[in-house]
Amino acid sequence: MDFKIKKATPEKIKTDALILPVFEGSTLGTSAAALSAATRKALEAALAQGDIKGKAGEVMVLSAVAESAAQRIVLMGLGKATEQKESGLRKSLAAAANAIKGTAAKDAVICMDDIQTGDRDLQWTARQVVEQFETATYTFNAFKSKDNHKLVSLKKLTLLTTNDQKSAERGVLEGKAIADGMNYARDLGNTPPNVCNPSYLAQEARKLSRGCKTLSTKILDEKQMAELGMHSLLSVGNGSETPSRLIIMEYKGGPKTQKPHVLVGKGITFDTGGISLKPAPDMDAMKWDMCGAASVFGTMRAIIDMQLPMNVVGVVAAAENMPSGKATRPGDIVTTMSGQTVEILNTDAEGRLVLCDALTYVERFKPASVVDIATLTGAIIVALGPFASGMMSNDEDVVENLQAAADYTQDKIWRLPLWDEYQALLDSPFADIGNIGNAGPKAGSITAACFLSRFTKAYPWAHLDVAGSAFNGGANKGATGRPVPLLTEYLLRRANS
Ligand code: BES
Ligand code: MN
Ligand code: ZN
Repeated sequence: MDFKIKKATPEKIKTDALILPVFEGSTLGTSAAALSAATRKALEAALAQGDIKGKAGEVMVLSAVAESAAQRIVLMGLGKATEQKESGLRKSLAAAANAIKGTAAKDAVICMDDIQTGDRDLQWTARQVVEQFETATYTFNAFKSKDNHKLVSLKKLTLLTTNDQKSAERGVLEGKAIADGMNYARDLGNTPPNVCNPSYLAQEARKLSRGCKTLSTKILDEKQMAELGMHSLLSVGNGSETPSRLIIMEYKGGPKTQKPHVLVGKGITFDTGGISLKPAPDMDAMKWDMCGAASVFGTMRAIIDMQLPMNVVGVVAAAENMPSGKATRPGDIVTTMSGQTVEILNTDAEGRLVLCDALTYVERFKPASVVDIATLTGAIIVALGPFASGMMSNDEDVVENLQAAADYTQDKIWRLPLWDEYQALLDSPFADIGNIGNAGPKAGSITAACFLSRFTKAYPWAHLDVAGSAFNGGANKGATGRPVPLLTEYLLRRANS
């Protein structure tokens, strides 16, 4: 979609769909004041019927309204005018976008002046508008036969405001970069696992750096990883016919000597569980076990787009977890790149096995911070549902920056502890550590993060468990593009500090 900004009031605007805020009590906002008396009368008559009360998330599409330059007027509820909330606005924008998506409208115009969420500024609101419209109109048709495509007519949205143009422009620019990054992450996530395997991801990294002077890509194959001693990462791909890869993307937008911020993504392109095989129902969802990696790709794309003046390294640990005669067994002991030995008690706890070696590898960059992103545990879905990613960290500065970025983008996170009591659950009688906690499923997300923390002592680090937030199962299944907004905003903040 294309986005434009226009300084005007709505009365003369020719468009297929004019989005007009309404408030609780079925009242029109100030944007409507500029409309002709006849148009307002028609809108008030429609509101008086009581079909829309003005609550957040309510929308009503009216066609051919009297004396209106717009072909449709989309009434968008925003709740109480003085108590607009972030969650309400996001819901309202999604509802408006979805309503328009169901019509033949090719372009739309949204009146921004009535939208005021707490003390959020126009830049923030513009970002939210772009993100919600891009999300609602996203389609993934690459694997549909020609005549079976879901088509969306809406191609252009104009943000109408009488306020600070610069602020709106910045919001649209950032919003578009982030939304494009999210769509890229969605595409990678949704691509089926017979196509999206470790070498496919490596190819994507090469594609990203082609034609981009600030990005260079390096791919390690299994032989190179063996030479580095990455036997934990390699153990995960043992059962697979498609070899593992370590993908390194270096973005150099800052001074040569500046320490980079590093993102490390879990890229399990399919997780069967290995010899600790998963049950059959919904196993297809494990094609999204590379969504952490997808968010690294999406974020790299967004910062390239925004030309962020800083250094960032994106690393993806890519492997496929399959059972076979060559697969790793429960009970096997491997030596990690760090020298620590791991007793693999459950081959389905594979994410931590690929991440630990990638986390040791990135020490060479002397990182300013490292954030890993992984669909690591089912337990985080039990704890937080789809709304927040789990976060664990060894550094308060990283935590503060991530929390500020989460609050601003509404790409939510919630912190869990890494106390010594939990660390002790990783003790193994035969190796330095076990790959699962010995208290069974209890505190599963925390013990997974504790495992990673054994490999991140050299730098400030946070772990994001995105198993609940990065994709939806069920009727509306698909990758969400999260946490690209969070990561991009985190880096934006780091670039400015
Ligand atoms: N990829 C899964 C985690 C997952 C589950 C992601 C559901 C998204 C949705 C991970 O590799 C896994 O299998 N974790 C196990 C760990 C257990 C064996 C300690 C889990 O969560 O059950
Ligand atoms: Mn697994
Ligand atoms: Zn997994």
